[in-house]
Amino acid sequence: MTALYGTMSEFRPPAPISPKRRPFPLRMLLGMPHCYISNLIDKSYEMKMGHIWAFGRNIFMPNQPDLVRRILVSEADHFPKSDMLSNILKLLLGNGLFVANGEEWERQRRMIDPAFAHAKLQRVFPLMWTAASAMHDRLESVADGEVVAVDEEMTHVTADVIFRTLFSIPIEQKGARLLFDAFTRFQESAFVLGFLGSTKLPCPLFRKRRNAKRAAQDIHQLIEPMIRERYERHRRGEKLTENDILTSLITAVDPKTQSVFSFEELIDQTAFLFLAGHETSASALSWALYLIAMQPDIQERMHAEAVSVMDEREAEFADVRKLSFTRDVFRETLRLYPPVGFLPREATRHETMRDKSIKPGDILVVSPWLIQRHRVLWKKPEIFDPDRFAREDSRESVNCAYLPFSLGPRICMGAAFATQEAMLLLAGLVRRFRFEPVAGHVPKPVGRLTIRSENGIRLKMWRR
Ligand code: HEM
Repeated sequence: MTALYGTMSEFRPPAPISPKRRPFPLRMLLGMPHCYISNLIDKSYEMKMGHIWAFGRNIFMPNQPDLVRRILVSEADHFPKSDMLSNILKLLLGNGLFVANGEEWERQRRMIDPAFAHAKLQRVFPLMWTAASAMHDRLESVADGEVVAVDEEMTHVTADVIFRTLFSIPIEQKGARLLFDAFTRFQESAFVLGFLGSTKLPCPLFRKRRNAKRAAQDIHQLIEPMIRERYERHRRGEKLTENDILTSLITAVDPKTQSVFSFEELIDQTAFLFLAGHETSASALSWALYLIAMQPDIQERMHAEAVSVMDEREAEFADVRKLSFTRDVFRETLRLYPPVGFLPREATRHETMRDKSIKPGDILVVSPWLIQRHRVLWKKPEIFDPDRFAREDSRESVNCAYLPFSLGPRICMGAAFATQEAMLLLAGLVRRFRFEPVAGHVPKPVGRLTIRSENGIRLKMWRR
C-alpha cells in the first residue's frame, strides 16, 4: 500500500501497489476474495481487455470504451448481471432490484419508478439539510482537534438522509452504529462467498456464510419492524398518512400484471434502497474528506465557495448548482474511489471482443476502478486533480471513461440524489469545520462490495 505525497498540486492518494506479474493461482485464491483491487496487475491499467481464468471460469475485463458501451448500453440485454454479484447480495437483498434480470427486473422497475418521485431533488432537499444540521451539532463538540472516525460519521449522516426519505423518521445513534458494524461484517464475509461461489470450486466456507447471514439479519432487524407495522396497517385497510417511499412501495401495483409486492419483497426492496442509498454515498464522502484534508489549498477553495454561496445562512435549494468546485471535488473523488468499483455481467451467447472469444456463462467485469485509473484513457490518472473536470483536455476522458454510476438501463437511479446530497454535506462541513490528516494514519483502500478503507478514515477536526 502506498501514499505518495507529491507537491501541493500533485497529490497521489493511496492505492494498492499492483503486482507486476499475475499472482500464482493459490495467492489469487487467497487474495482475490479478500480484495479484488490489490490483485490487479500493473498492466491491467493500460490493457484494452484483460482476461483471467479463475478456477473454472473465464473472467474478462474490458476497458476499451466502445466495448464497455456495448456491454452496458447498446447490447445490455445480452449481458445481464452475473451471479458473482447475486451470490453475494442475495443473503441481504433477496432477488431485489439490484440483482434481478430480464422480465423480473422490468416488473420491479415498473413498481419502483413511481416511488422514486419521493426522491426528487427539491423534495428531498429539506430532509438532507436537516440531517446535515444534525450532523453539524454532533460534530461541534469534537471539533477542537479531536480525531474523528469520519467513515462512521458519514455512514450516520447518509443513513439518516435515506431513513428520512424512506420512512419519514431520523435514524438514531444506536441504529447508525449497528448498521456500520453489520455492513462491515457483511462486506468481509459476503465478498469471499460471492467470489468463490461464482467459480466452480466447492465452497466450504460455512463460517463465512453464517457471519454474512447474521450481519444481514442485523440489518433487516433495523428496518423490518417499521415495514411490518405499516404493512399491517395497510392490510387492515387503513389509509397510510406517511408520504414517503415506503408507502409508495406498499401501495405499488404493477400496471401490467396488477401484482403487488409481497411482504418479503418489500423487505428486500427497502433493504436495497436503504443500502444503495447510504453505503455508496458514505464511502465517497469519507474519501472526499480525506482527499481535501491532504490538500489544504483545495479545502480552502471549497470553503471560500461555500461561504460565497451560502454565507452564514441556512442552505437553500438554489445554492446547490452554484457549488461548481465542490461538485468537481466530488466527481474527482468518485473517479479515484468509485464506491461501486466493479460491475460484473454474464455473456449469454457467443461473442467476439478484440481477439477474444467469449462463451455463454463467461463473466465480463466492467470496472470503474480500473477504467477511471487507466493510463491510456486519462492523463495523470493517479493524481487527485478536481480541476480536470473543468478543463477542455479532459473532456474525452470524462465522456468515454467515467462511469461511477454505471451506464445504460441499469444506471444508478439515485445519481442526482447522491450528487446533491454530497455537495450539500461537503459544502456544509467545510463552511463550518476544517479537516486535517492524522499523523501516521494512511487509509488502505480495499475493494469488496464497495471501495472502503480497511483501517478506517480518521481525521482531526477543527471549528473555523
Ligand atoms: C455516490 C453514490 C452512489 C454511487 C456511486 C452509486 C452507484 C451505482 C451503480 C454503479 C449502480 C449500477 C450497478 C450496475 O450497473 O451493476 C447503481 C444502481 C442503483 N443505485 Fe446507486 N449509487 C449511489 C447512490 C445511490 C442512491 C443515493 C440511491 C437511492 C436513493 C441509489 C439507487 C440505486 C438504484 C435503485 C440502483 C439500481 C438500478 C437498477 O438496477 O435498475 N444509488 N448505483
